[in-house]
Amino acid sequence: MKRSIIILSAFCLLAACTTQKKAKYEFPEAMQPSVRAGFKEICDKGQVLYNITCAGCHNVKVKGKEKIPDFTLEQLKGYEIRITNAQHESSMPDEKVTAEELGQISTFLMYKKKSGVPFKKKDS
Ligand code: HEC
Repeated sequence: MKRSIIILSAFCLLAACTTQKKAKYEFPEAMQPSVRAGFKEICDKGQVLYNITCAGCHNVKVKGKEKIPDFTLEQLKGYEIRITNAQHESSMPDEKVTAEELGQISTFLMYKKKSGVPFKKKDS
């Protein structure tokens, strides 16, 4: 984790280039400020990637406002495992993101302030 934070902080291009509104995050109380800063950076990148590769299918409109659904940790982990096992489902263009990018997106989704909109599969 530490190593990836160091590597990622070198790639601040994406975050620096974006002018979109930043999401609010909910980090655990016990998280050290330096660690928090690293996570925030990853989350900001994840948000950009999420907006490009995932939001089109996953955001939901609630009273005219676009909301990012709250995925559970299990859903995010399951999704990552599925993709790293290369068992892609044809309905999801998983191959558009690398494992590293997916990690950033997951981190963003994990720590973003809850929208109160749980992720639900359409058929359930
Ligand atoms: C083309 C539309 C589409 C795109 C783009 C898309 N998804 Fe999905 N996603 C779906 C559908 C449909 C489901 C529900 C069916 C399923 O689980 O395969 C789903 C399910 C999920 C789940 C829940 C899986 C589970 O096991 O419950 C997660 C997490 C998820 N997507 C994350 C993402 C992320 C992160 C991205 C961006 C990298 C993304 N999706 C891009 C359509 C999409």
